[in-house]
Amino acid sequence: MAATPRFKIDVAFVDRNREIEELRNYLQGRPNSILFLYGPKSSGKTTLMYRLFEQMEAEKGYSFNFLNLREVFLGSYDDFIAAFFKSAGDENGVRTGSRRQYSLFGLFKLDAFTERMLKKRQEDPFLVMKREFQRLVKKGVRPVVIIDEFHKLDGLYLPDKQRSLIVELMNFFVAMTKESHLCHVIIASSDAFFIERVYVDSKLRKTSKFMKLDYLKKEDVVTWLRNIKRYNKIEDYTLDEQQIETIWDTVGGSAWEVYSILEDLFQHPLETIVAKIKRERLATIVDVIRHNRALEGILQRFADEPVHHGRDLLDCDTSLLGTLVGENILFYDPVDGVYGIQGKSLEWGIKEYFEGP
Ligand SMILES: Nc1ncnc2c1ncn2[C@@H]1O[C@H](COP(=O)(O)OP(=O)(O)OP(=O)(O)O)[C@@H](O)[C@H]1O
Ligand SMILES: [Mg+2]
Repeated sequence: MAATPRFKIDVAFVDRNREIEELRNYLQGRPNSILFLYGPKSSGKTTLMYRLFEQMEAEKGYSFNFLNLREVFLGSYDDFIAAFFKSAGDENGVRTGSRRQYSLFGLFKLDAFTERMLKKRQEDPFLVMKREFQRLVKKGVRPVVIIDEFHKLDGLYLPDKQRSLIVELMNFFVAMTKESHLCHVIIASSDAFFIERVYVDSKLRKTSKFMKLDYLKKEDVVTWLRNIKRYNKIEDYTLDEQQIETIWDTVGGSAWEVYSILEDLFQHPLETIVAKIKRERLATIVDVIRHNRALEGILQRFADEPVHHGRDLLDCDTSLLGTLVGENILFYDPVDGVYGIQGKSLEWGIKEYFEGP
């Protein structure tokens, strides 16, 4: 057996070429739809968009505006203005050392006068954005807006207190893409309820593209784990095929969990780590069932089969299914109409609950 590794571990980026290509194709066409990027928790949506942004930022002809709302406090309309608009002189927060791409906020850089007018609510933010897009297009540049964790705008209202900000913003993006063809818009969200809401709204569905980002495929995880020296700068340690299979079998293509196992290999043998993960996932399942015994029946069905079409769950209480989605136990994909367990390690938790000793 290999000795306990002593390594310094670096962050890997495992191939997402196909997905990057799909996003590039979208950006190379004429702006005609909003692209919604969705997928189960921690599947790599944010990472993928940063990657795309890093790759394309340097390319001529595009102007990228990237906003990760997870980094921003959004309690009011004024917070929205502060997050979306920054005066050109205010570089604060725009670049923070070498990791600037992880801290970009302030979608649009403005002159100080416009920013003041926006803050005083004497300027319409939608018009300001449209003018900025028109200015760029006139210069021959293609504006691209990327907003991560878009659902965080939910619950905010325009100053008239009547109109929902998120609804108006989506209408605006429909106008900017399908109608005026002025800019590309990529919206990502880890909130399955939000994606479902967009999808059931026929007006939005017909003007949008939906791209699902799932966990990594087995072949990609295997390539990664066979090459931890290249991917993670781990020296003097290799995983054998049996260990690689065990890691895949435990956490599947969840990059965060694979990485976390590699980190723990610093201190513990793989068998100990795997047993701990299974115990923890079992505890999660026990916890949700303790809070609502009615969930047990639904989860029992997922113990036998981790993926179910909504059609086969029509007899299940919708609000119970919603609870499991809200708790990130299940993921609901409205495009395929399918419910699935959020990740392989939770499959173990469910299996251990129903089949364990
Ligand atoms: N292609 C990849 N290669 C290696 N690691 C990755 C990859 N994609 C994501 N990760 C890692 O997985 C973790 C989760 O990724 P990320 O935060 O991008 O997921 P997400 O889908 O945006 O999550 P959330 O649903 O919470 O928004 C991060 O620690 C990231 O470093
Ligand atoms: Mg994310």
